[in-house]
Amino acid sequence: MSRFDQPNEETASPPVIRPCSAHDFDAMLAVVNAAARAYGGVIPADCYGEPYMPAAELRGEIAAGVRFWASFEADVMVGIMGIQDVDDMTLIRHAYVRPDRQRKGVGSRLLQHLLPLTMKVPLVGTWADAWWAISFYERHGFSLVAPAEKDQLLRRYWTISERQVETSVVLRAGPSAWAGGRGRVHVTATSAASCDSAP
Ligand SMILES: CC(C)(COP(=O)(O)OP(=O)(O)OC[C@H]1O[C@@H](n2cnc3c(N)ncnc32)[C@H](O)[C@@H]1OP(=O)(O)O)[C@@H](O)C(=O)NCCC(=O)NCCS
Repeated sequence: MSRFDQPNEETASPPVIRPCSAHDFDAMLAVVNAAARAYGGVIPADCYGEPYMPAAELRGEIAAGVRFWASFEADVMVGIMGIQDVDDMTLIRHAYVRPDRQRKGVGSRLLQHLLPLTMKVPLVGTWADAWWAISFYERHGFSLVAPAEKDQLLRRYWTISERQVETSVVLRAGPSAWAGGRGRVHVTATSAASCDSAP
């Protein structure tokens, strides 16, 4: 049985996206750690543990300036995504959709909500082995950065170990994804570390 409350599909109201508050912390943590099970047996074993993201780490990310938004269906949190301004870039951080709501457009709606809010070039980092996440961002007009540059970007804009630099990739938003902070984006998508947690 799922440990999540279930949105009532029959009386479903449209999804609501809003910034997370302190009251949302436990639900955020539950969504992250349920969704992150997708990494188990896929990313290097020394980069994966359960819980994938301990509460202290999520608290640390918020303290470091990651601002989270969440998507709710019938008042139930189904996904989260954060943005963090670092110098001249905006990092998309910690995108997680609870397993039973994945591939239903939740992540796409969150990304399309956040991209117009970014005034700096959006970058996203993820595990090199997380092919589905790479596919997700490519659908939204992001492109993989060449290996040498991605190492430089990961060292400059993320606070992660060398092991995580080695095992991660970076994607950058192209013009179809991000209008340079000048308003709404036109997306190409159809729908809609030690290793700490993913960059
Ligand atoms: C990656 C993630 C945030 C995307 O959110 P989502 O709501 O599932 O994505 P959407 O429904 O908006 O978009 C679906 C697209 O994403 C990609 N995708 C997402 N999950 C996938 C999966 N399990 N298998 C294959 N493709 C997947 C595909 O391109 C897919 O398109 P398709 O269904 O037509 O093949 C979500 O799947 C997730 O939480 N995954 C586990 C954790 C993770 O990898 N997080 C990324 C950290 S950077």
